[in-house]
Amino acid sequence: MAFQTVRGFHDIFGEDLKRFRYVTSVIRQILASYNFEEIITPVVEFAELFERSVGEVTDIVQKEMFVFEDRKGRLLALRPEGTAGVVRAYIQHKLYAQKPYHKLFYEGPMFRYERPQAGRYRQFHQIGAEVFGVADPSADAEIIEIVSRVLKALNVPAHIEINSIGCKVCRPAYREALKEFLEGVSEKLCKDCQDRKERNPLRVLDCKVETCKSAVSEAPKVVDFLCDECRAHYERVKEFLSSLGIDFKENPRLVRGLDYYTRTVFEAVSPKTGNAIIAGGRYDYLVEDLGGPPTPALGFAVGVERVASLVEVPCEKEDLYFVIPFGDVQDYALEVAKALRDEGKKVELSYRGGSLRKQLDFANRIGARYAVIVGEDEKKGGYITVKDMESGDQKKVWVGKKV
Ligand code: HAM
Repeated sequence: MAFQTVRGFHDIFGEDLKRFRYVTSVIRQILASYNFEEIITPVVEFAELFERSVGEVTDIVQKEMFVFEDRKGRLLALRPEGTAGVVRAYIQHKLYAQKPYHKLFYEGPMFRYERPQAGRYRQFHQIGAEVFGVADPSADAEIIEIVSRVLKALNVPAHIEINSIGCKVCRPAYREALKEFLEGVSEKLCKDCQDRKERNPLRVLDCKVETCKSAVSEAPKVVDFLCDECRAHYERVKEFLSSLGIDFKENPRLVRGLDYYTRTVFEAVSPKTGNAIIAGGRYDYLVEDLGGPPTPALGFAVGVERVASLVEVPCEKEDLYFVIPFGDVQDYALEVAKALRDEGKKVELSYRGGSLRKQLDFANRIGARYAVIVGEDEKKGGYITVKDMESGDQKKVWVGKKV
């Protein structure tokens, strides 16, 4: 049997790729307008980086990481997300010593061994941004403003949900209250949540199993446990968002599936698929936990495939010229194609052969606006015949003169 892609991995081409590139180029432009700088980090990192950042008791690390030993027996992983690698690079290259704060963005493939289904792949792509060194809630608002701008620019319907999950000061009390609550509904929880409720009870709130979802519907809310600082921070974020005119919904159950978050967390959810398409939040301890200086930080990542599946690419305005050589005029056809491209035009030279009718049919099929007919007479006379495929009009143009 011929080779197939590995389950959960996919080729991207044709219309899907157009949508994919459209999404990343629009987001790149938006990030540039906020003065983010690009960083490229490796696809492979030490597995421990993700254990210590995303968290040992998370689905991503426990069940979904592609982990392997290299020839020296070191445990490596294909990155399941982008933040940990960017934080590692920020610390490794002492970027914190260069500027009081940094704004970095990245784009690339991520890998999670999840059960493949619509919008869920084992290799998918993210474009994400991280801000290091800013504790002020205005940065949270600005990051969420970017998310809102991305949705608007791409015309993707989605609503933004936000929550605050507190800090080292207030979360322990919440954790205890939640643990106690979970003990009471223990028999309704799935097998995984039996373990989670002891080791990482917040993760139970994130479980997708229906019985768990209904078991936690009455669970205490983290916002009711916020310390004064976290509460004030959250209030400011909401005020800023309102003054920026950004629609959001508070979701007291939103905790996210990664352990590094503190305070503000958010997701943009598509009503069409019910999936989070963009997600992020603050992670004020991660830089320090991974060996850097105390550095507040926050960011977000866009699931490119998920967003791309919801966009319509605006019609390409650039006209395509299809050059059709007739007879022994390949040299002239090449010259004509070059001259047109020198004028900045988009040109395809026909490699097809066949009757004029067939060639014109083909020109239509590939969406050419003009057919450029190049035969012996044209070569001798130093001109080309340009046929407008929409109106059917035909005209002679001398090469060197603008078409
Ligand atoms: P995340 O929520 O795990 O966050 O992933 C971000 C986005 O990646 C999701 O909203 C979704 O669109 C997409 N995504 C995740 N898993 C898959 C999958 N299996 N197939 C297709 N798309 C998927 C993070 O990764 C954080 N690093 C975001 C962040 C950046 N937080 C702070 N800075």
